[in-house]
Amino acid sequence: MAEDTPRKTVEELGKLFDLTGKVAVVTGAGGTLGHALCKGLAVYGADIAGWDMKTDIMDDMVAEVEGIGRKATATAVNVTDDASVKAAMEKVIADHGKVNILVTVAGTAGNRQPAETFDIDEWQKVMDVNVRGTMLCAKYAGAEYEKQGDGGKIITIGSVRGFLGHPGGYAAYGTSKGAVHLLTKQLATEWAKKRINVNAIAPSIFWTPLTQQVRDDPELVKIFMARIPMGRAAELDDFIGAAVYLASPASDYVTGLVLSVDGGAVAG
Ligand SMILES: NC(=O)c1ccc[n+]([C@@H]2O[C@H](COP(=O)([O-])OP(=O)(O)OC[C@H]3O[C@@H](n4cnc5c(N)ncnc54)[C@H](O)[C@@H]3O)[C@@H](O)[C@H]2O)c1
Repeated sequence: MAEDTPRKTVEELGKLFDLTGKVAVVTGAGGTLGHALCKGLAVYGADIAGWDMKTDIMDDMVAEVEGIGRKATATAVNVTDDASVKAAMEKVIADHGKVNILVTVAGTAGNRQPAETFDIDEWQKVMDVNVRGTMLCAKYAGAEYEKQGDGGKIITIGSVRGFLGHPGGYAAYGTSKGAVHLLTKQLATEWAKKRINVNAIAPSIFWTPLTQQVRDDPELVKIFMARIPMGRAAELDDFIGAAVYLASPASDYVTGLVLSVDGGAVAG
């Protein structure tokens, strides 16, 4: 064993996944995955600043996080709006004193349409929420991390659709998630020396309002399941381990990773 390599104590190793004392901003916190990740991060010790379009859709999340014994706040934010995101980040600092983790879950699928007749305004809406929204939230978290001077974690939410095309009308959604993956790598590279880790989680399909259009079409469900080697949709709790890992000291030397949590969908 190399004597000159710094090693953690047993006690420090036991805290590799500990988020106690950390403040996590989670966007889309009133949505399905956002709420689940707020709960998961809180179980591992983080306080939660939830962002979503309206505060009342985060009531259940706030109650659940407080029930775990962590602090939770809910702020109305439009992630596509620079002034709204800036004000929300200022509110996080006022309410919680700092920010250590950002998870950009807010997203939209828009309506799937054939590329040759795709409504370009609808296409732009998807790009705005998924790409511009991710960029704006990361921008203000990065600026805050820089001020705080002790690094930070950013977790974006990509998708299997960011790796692979699909005949089912994904010209907007797939393109936006491909951009989220590359934005993640770009920010990771740019901020690596500042100890800001930027990684993505790329889920396969799970059942939420965002995928209702697919769920309503049994033929499409069959096609989707056939493409997942494990043969099932993801469950919400499948994503919690990945989020805790990427938010915690366990991933301090990991940056620019797009971590597939997808039942093997992009493996073959
Ligand atoms: N459901 C899936 O199968 C699936 C698969 C891969 C990736 N994803 C991604 O996971 C994330 C969460 O999706 P979900 O399925 O939980 O959807 P959801 O519809 O349950 O949640 C999305 C949340 O984002 C919020 N939101 C949308 N636009 C916003 C804006 N401009 N500002 C602030 N908040 C906004 C919505 O209000 C909603 O609460 C999305 O980024 C989605 O692309 C989902």
